[in-house]
Amino acid sequence: MEKLVVTGPTQLKGEVTISGAKNAAVALLPATLLIDGVCTIENLPHISDIEISCTILEKLGAKITWNDKHCITIDTRNITTTKAPLDLTSKFRASYYIIGSMLGRKGEIEVGMPGGCKLGARPIDQHIKGFEALGATVTVEKGKIYGKAKKLKGTSIYMDIVSVGATINVMLAAVLAKGTTTIDNAAKEPHIVDVANFLNTMGADIRGAGTDVIKINGVEKLHGNATYSVVPDQIEAGTFMLAAVATRGDLTLKNCITKHLESITAKIIEVGGNVEDYGDSIRVWCNKRPNKANIKTLPYPGFPTDLQPQMGVVLSLANGTSVINESIWESRFQYTDELNKMGAKITAQGKTAFFEGVKKLYGAPVYSTDLRAGAALVIAGTAAQGETDIYNLQHIDRGYEDIEGKFRKIGANIKRVTEE
Ligand code: EPZ
Repeated sequence: MEKLVVTGPTQLKGEVTISGAKNAAVALLPATLLIDGVCTIENLPHISDIEISCTILEKLGAKITWNDKHCITIDTRNITTTKAPLDLTSKFRASYYIIGSMLGRKGEIEVGMPGGCKLGARPIDQHIKGFEALGATVTVEKGKIYGKAKKLKGTSIYMDIVSVGATINVMLAAVLAKGTTTIDNAAKEPHIVDVANFLNTMGADIRGAGTDVIKINGVEKLHGNATYSVVPDQIEAGTFMLAAVATRGDLTLKNCITKHLESITAKIIEVGGNVEDYGDSIRVWCNKRPNKANIKTLPYPGFPTDLQPQMGVVLSLANGTSVINESIWESRFQYTDELNKMGAKITAQGKTAFFEGVKKLYGAPVYSTDLRAGAALVIAGTAAQGETDIYNLQHIDRGYEDIEGKFRKIGANIKRVTEE
């Protein structure tokens, strides 16, 4: 079994280069199934979710050439099956994007229910509602999803809740549909804009991505023959910004879009941190104990749920009692039990948690319960006194490229160890 051993405390200092966004990349790869051609994708994060996505595409008939570890050329001219491999699609959430793409390209798909972090109920009713409105028949039976459509037809779809996955999936399905599709109450995350930009580069006609109304004029065919670079990872950038505050360090993050970081920047200033914004890079530093603050997670441009655990580490160390209200996922406070093992004083009740700030955290053996919980434990271990052993690294490796290498470069005493 592998574990990360972090010995602290360390004030993190220096520069970090932010990778391409995981949640954009895991949608761009299945989006290539809509292309009757060849395209190149750069700035892919080197993480396990991307490796699995590529294997799934290959099993469906795509030909992939790795130009380097962040760049692939993908030929999706010859898709040979509409059955996606169950064992692989169940490993992560974004495998559901194959449904939208394959309904658009082939009018047929058979895929297992998606996996991913256990954050509470993760229904896909809004995805199905969108596909059905476009004219597909979708059935869910014995853990599998079957979709069929003769030719999808553009229509107006109102999303009952703001959903990143449903917005992207319905957008994918609508690209090759006949006529115009309108998605109302769409999610506005940077990765939605990235998927729309990618598809438009390949010949799609999508307007309004990044607002709550997206209009997709169906086109006959996507041509490929273009290179696209994945947007920088807003959540990885936010993770390092919060690591700077929790460790009272000083970090400069390169290759980020600071416009995407506004809600995080605002909260960092509220807790007493400092931020210098250079547009495509950002410096964050903190030289005192953070102040308390209250947080409510919201869809973009609100404070992201995917940075809630990392912010939880900052508030565990703050002066005073803070409250976090998690409005997206019902079980995103599992990490608080792990932080409490390190001396934090957190009481979680349903979707609310109370953080009574402590002066110090202490090293302990802890378990990463999901991807962002794992990142939070790495920050906590760096800020804490003594040795923290972090287990369940498969969650962290799904979404953070070389987390220990990046933390080591900014001063953390961190190593990956294989334990019997
Ligand atoms: C995406 O998940 C991200 N995953 C998640 O990141 C992120 O936490 C989440 O968006 C919210 O920002 C990927 O992009 C692969 P949703 P997704 O559909 O698309 C409810 C991480 O750590 N809902 O926006 O699955 C749902 O239960 C991961 O990187 C329905 O009720 O999230 C939730 O309460 C974890 N019906 C809310 O909507 C549906 O059909 C938002 O979910 C779909 C969603």
